[in-house]
Amino acid sequence: MEDKILKIKENALSEIEKASNSKELDEVKNKYLSRQSELNTLKKSLKDIEPSLRPKIGALTNEVSKFLEEKINTRHNEFYKKELDEKLKSEKIDVTLEGTYNPTGCVHPLTQTINEIVEIFEHLGFSIIENRLSPEVEVEKYNFDMLNVPQEHPARDVQDTYYCYGADNVVLRSHTSNAQVREMLNTKPPIKIISPGRVYRNEQVSARKNNFFHQVEGLYIDKGVTFAHLKGVLNEFISQYFGSARPTRFRNSFFPFTEPSAEIDVQCIVCHGKGCPTCSGSGWLEILGSGMVDPNVLRDAGVDPDVYSGFAFGMGVERLAMLKYAIDDIRLFFNNDERFLKQFN
Ligand code: PHE
Repeated sequence: MEDKILKIKENALSEIEKASNSKELDEVKNKYLSRQSELNTLKKSLKDIEPSLRPKIGALTNEVSKFLEEKINTRHNEFYKKELDEKLKSEKIDVTLEGTYNPTGCVHPLTQTINEIVEIFEHLGFSIIENRLSPEVEVEKYNFDMLNVPQEHPARDVQDTYYCYGADNVVLRSHTSNAQVREMLNTKPPIKIISPGRVYRNEQVSARKNNFFHQVEGLYIDKGVTFAHLKGVLNEFISQYFGSARPTRFRNSFFPFTEPSAEIDVQCIVCHGKGCPTCSGSGWLEILGSGMVDPNVLRDAGVDPDVYSGFAFGMGVERLAMLKYAIDDIRLFFNNDERFLKQFN
């Protein structure tokens, strides 16, 4: 019996010695000190042996268990310290290391400009119309016919307007004024809307012209709307957009869908009217087209011109952005060169 216990002790000691990490040591501990261990079984069978031998054997088993437990604990502490050291070493963070650069995008300057324009008009009581009322691929009827543009008008020429190949009378819209027609057909007055979007013209691409660009269209129809309302709203827009009340000039003009028509110039923001290259020496910059909606246009769209009147306007978004940020080439908006775009962050 005694030999058996001493043999267990010896085996256990050599296995403790062999264990090379805390996991292996746990297995040894389990094998020699758990309830199912040989030592424990021996303890339980003490009652079956000769009573005079019991105290001695009992004491020996206890002593061996205690001894082994201490050995294991000591070993365990060594492993624990060593493993913790390793873990700390492998997981340490060098706070002086450079961080990872996560580039973020920014809102495109044209989108920013559109948002700015839209916000000003929203404060003046205009709402944006739904997208479906302002499609970029449009029938000639809404891009030209119902806007009183005569059949032989030069704007319809294939040299100016993109016609869709194989589809009869379908164009890429040449302006956002199609939104006027669609909105009038869709809603009864009063109407007070704006409609931003992309338009297409068959232009020779240059620093000043691109074959697509963006416009914001506006339409206000109600009883008793006059040219004074047009002036009031557009002057207010200009002073809000350019940041201060600026001299404006309403120049007599012609659009088939408005009568009378006016083009609006703002005093050159670069030279303040003295004359410089930006304003081609004139001291003025043309920024939008406008006018009172022609009675023919109202009538064709089912609005009675004897009861209602209104004004409309259309402005070029690129032009407004170029003037405000002194950008000298329209193509910069479309090349997506990060060096340009990130200046608008
Ligand atoms: N559609 C015109 C253009 O593209 C602008 C405009 C809109 C003029 C509304 C008058 C009224 O040049």
